[in-house]
Amino acid sequence: MASLNYFPCTATLSHTPSRPTFPKPPSHRLQISSSISENKNIDIETNSNSQPKVDRRNMLLGLSSGSLYGAANLVINPRESSATPIQAPVLDSCGVATNLNNNKELDINCCPPTTDRIVDYRVPPVFQMKMRPSAHRVSPEYIFKYNMAIDRMKRLPKDDPRNFFQQANIHCAYCNGAYKQQEGQDGPDPSKFLQVHNSWLFFPFHRWYLYFYERILGKLINDPTFALPFWNWDNPKGMTIPPMFLDERSALYDKKRNKDSMPPAVVDLGLTDIKDPLQLVTNNLTIMYNEMIRGNSDVYGFMGKAYSQGDAPDRGPGSVERGSHTSVHWWVGDPNQPTREDLGNFYSAGRDPLFYCHHANVDRMWTLWQYFIPSNKVPYKRITETDFLNASFLFYDENAQLVRVTVQDCLDNLRMGYEFERIDLPWLDYRPPPQTVGARIRRANTKSAQPNTVFPLKLDQIVRVFVQKTKKGKADEVLVLEDMEVDTSKLLKFDVFVNDEDDNVFELDKAAYLGTYAQLPHKSATNSTVKTSISLKLTDLYDDMDNIDDDETVLVTLVPRHQGEGITIGGIKIIEAPPPAKKPAA
Ligand code: C2O
Repeated sequence: MASLNYFPCTATLSHTPSRPTFPKPPSHRLQISSSISENKNIDIETNSNSQPKVDRRNMLLGLSSGSLYGAANLVINPRESSATPIQAPVLDSCGVATNLNNNKELDINCCPPTTDRIVDYRVPPVFQMKMRPSAHRVSPEYIFKYNMAIDRMKRLPKDDPRNFFQQANIHCAYCNGAYKQQEGQDGPDPSKFLQVHNSWLFFPFHRWYLYFYERILGKLINDPTFALPFWNWDNPKGMTIPPMFLDERSALYDKKRNKDSMPPAVVDLGLTDIKDPLQLVTNNLTIMYNEMIRGNSDVYGFMGKAYSQGDAPDRGPGSVERGSHTSVHWWVGDPNQPTREDLGNFYSAGRDPLFYCHHANVDRMWTLWQYFIPSNKVPYKRITETDFLNASFLFYDENAQLVRVTVQDCLDNLRMGYEFERIDLPWLDYRPPPQTVGARIRRANTKSAQPNTVFPLKLDQIVRVFVQKTKKGKADEVLVLEDMEVDTSKLLKFDVFVNDEDDNVFELDKAAYLGTYAQLPHKSATNSTVKTSISLKLTDLYDDMDNIDDDETVLVTLVPRHQGEGITIGGIKIIEAPPPAKKPAA
């Protein structure tokens, strides 16, 4: 297979796990090339004469890969260019960040340096694949090197855009409203902030951000193979803060962290505030199973909802973003700081080196979802809208050059030159035990549902409501929480259970757990309340219940966990699952 020789250096893994890894999927590389030919994807654009135009990335890749992608893989992008992707921000629109508690300006200037010279970035040919290691499994030599790199980054001149704090500013500028959307031809409202969270920009933005961060670190220690570690919080062995970040003398240390989250505390991916470590582990695995396998009915459920130029932000976060990702931020942030700095607030998150380790795992979840986990649940996993593919960002590269990058150039981590150490995925088949008929009898006797629940409904207490199904019994259905009004200045979280039999809301490891909505405090459009919605797939939950055959309704329980009074639910309904997205026409 030509593709096996694609990256000559993949065999030199210094971190190859000795214990069994998760079932080897068909080779990632193999899958890419087959999916490209199969899906007629995005690698070539149509120009105005309808002549296929070869994307230069493919040319580069062809050069670097011994022409792996031959002419047979040339494909046409069928979409039209009437679209309005989010464009790289207006740099000089940048201002100070805002304290979301009181809407006053913070005393920090959130703006990275500006310059007029912007270069369109080309991902360079990959000669040696970087291997991102699990932060819990690295050698002392690796830690030494990483520490040295961060130390040098902190010592760069303050106005060097590669300086540690300038890099933190970049994250702040893209999420605390310091950057604005560019005006398009029709002049979208320029007062609309550019917010890279809570939409389909979430994964691509952070992938590029880490990509350049990693290259800057590599350059500072003269090691182009340097790869960021990932915090393996989805595996029980990685569910504590990785030790390398705890040494107070290390450049990797940050004092603004929650004292209660120091090892051996187990990460609380559900923000349930329980302390029993065994229950936390099983909850965490259930959450991962839900975010990655069971809970999404389409690609947007995982990636987040569409967000185009001129749109107000907060279209709706994907499952990982609103779930495990949000929880880790909050769990590490220091409750004794005014707005839970550093990790508990987006404007300051980049000041904790742990941020990049956390996000390396978030990025890993994206690659696992794209290439490794069973795809039958969401048969089509690519977003083909040009508004997604052509969305662009600005970053400083390792030479302090300001570069423009696009989403379509970051969809494949191998093309970008890095992969992840293989660790087993204990959540992969962490299906909850089936609920049995007895639960149904108990449920029939329940007095707990409020028969006359009136919407809109403030979520300041646990709410139970019967919702009409589209068909009796096991159907292909989605639960939609619509017109949710959320206060963006607060941490918000609630969980959703269906036909819960025992009402123990601290145990998530049961068939009845359907999913969550959670958000960190963040800046949105001009006011601090936005409308959003989430869709949670019911089909697989029904499969884990042996007792719903003739049911025409389900009992939905909404459990507020954090500041439910900041959440108003406009309505709840069950709809038929949308048919699986089709492959784009050739
Ligand atoms: Cu941009 Cu997890 O934050």
